[in-house]
Amino acid sequence: MARYRFLVLNGPNLGALGKRQPEIYGTSGMNALPALVEKVLGARAGDVELLHFQSNSEGALIDRLELAREEGLHGVAFNAGAYTHTSLALADCLAWIGVPCVEVHLSNVLARSEPLRQKSHIGRHVIGVVAGFGMLSYALAIQALVQHHEKE
Ligand code: DQA
Repeated sequence: MARYRFLVLNGPNLGALGKRQPEIYGTSGMNALPALVEKVLGARAGDVELLHFQSNSEGALIDRLELAREEGLHGVAFNAGAYTHTSLALADCLAWIGVPCVEVHLSNVLARSEPLRQKSHIGRHVIGVVAGFGMLSYALAIQALVQHHEKE
């Protein structure tokens, strides 16, 4: 059995990765993630089990985060999409569930032209942020979650 069980959680408009605005979000889909995790973690990749969930609805994301707490998952790599910038409800959820979370973005939100994208409501409640590396952002978030547990 894997040592760590992590949830890769994707919010709105992230169900068709690889097809949506590839000039911004890249051409890879979530199926590219296992190979990237292996590349980043090397022999340690076997220590990690990844669960996946995507929803376009805020409530379903909150329900899945609450379930992650009940399941005792070791962490969440969370791309909340546009809810990052708008959702007090997701921030409230992350504030109490006690599951370490890394905020993930494919694009470098700080370098995007819309000022709203530079604001994160969930950022206060995560252990860190990875943005701008396409699908690799998720793999780096997984690596950060492993490291978070191993420095405890
Ligand atoms: C995103 C950035 C958000 O601003 C945007 O709304 C998304 C994707 C990213 O992965 O770069 O849907 O989270």
